[in-house]
Amino acid sequence: MQLWHLISYIHLYAVAVVTAKRLVHTKLQNEPAFQSDHIQPEARVVGGTDADPGFASYQISLQGMYSPHMCGGVIIDKQWVLTAAHCVYGYNPPYLRIMTGTVVWQNPRATYYPDEFYTHCNYNNPDYANDIALVHLNDSIIFDQYTQPIPLASKPVRDDAEAILTGWGDVAYGGPSAEVLQKITLRTLSYKSCGEKFDSDVEALDVGHICTFTKEGEGSCHGDSGGPLISDGELIGLVNWGRPCALGFPDAYASIYFYRDWIRRVMSGKCKTCHCEESNYPFLR
Ligand SMILES: *[C@@H]1O[C@H](CO)[C@@H](O)[C@H](O)[C@H]1NC(C)=O
Repeated sequence: MQLWHLISYIHLYAVAVVTAKRLVHTKLQNEPAFQSDHIQPEARVVGGTDADPGFASYQISLQGMYSPHMCGGVIIDKQWVLTAAHCVYGYNPPYLRIMTGTVVWQNPRATYYPDEFYTHCNYNNPDYANDIALVHLNDSIIFDQYTQPIPLASKPVRDDAEAILTGWGDVAYGGPSAEVLQKITLRTLSYKSCGEKFDSDVEALDVGHICTFTKEGEGSCHGDSGGPLISDGELIGLVNWGRPCALGFPDAYASIYFYRDWIRRVMSGKCKTCHCEESNYPFLR
């Protein structure tokens, strides 16, 4: 057994502990209490509209053998899906399911089976950082009109670009999760500008994040953890966390441009013996 399988077992317990303490695991029916710094994982798209079939063909629903929709995710290759680390952390990979090709999570066109996943080795270290994971499937995804990969960001995120977020999260705070995939158009913020918009108590924000921002009262809980933020036809972010809805604060995403090297390394097999790896992003060195 690899180390990861051993770790998986104790992770099941660790997730419960970590969930209570740090809210790193999104549970739709069991919305965690607010933290002292008012950060919580995103679990909903508020203010969106129903997506038509075929829209966001890169979107997946991450489910469990015995769990309904848990998180969003994104197809980036035949056998690879990106999601947030807090969506998979602590699970035994074969427990998870990747549902593709649908805007109704209960009615997927196809189901795929993870045989492994790789979370960033500095996931949640410091708190809320590096919340990204790659899920490997035991079979190749069949691409069609409803099921397609999306290219990774090729350039840094600038301020005020248009971006599309999709997700099946709750459609109102504390409300039910959406049956039909929700989509919403947002505006991006670079990590620097995002920090200026937050109060100073948000230390969770770092260079690996980008944000979106909407006006107060319009709902700032737009996400579905692990789900995709798209701009110019490229994947630019994965939903990570934000403040409770509609308070006029940005939502934070893992920056795909920032983690490109990490993603490529894991996919090329350089991370086969460990479930994690440091960011290779040049300007951290
Ligand atoms: C993938 O895993 C599932 C569930 O264990 C299994 O039914 C299926 O046959 C596997 N596919 C391949 C190609 O191994």
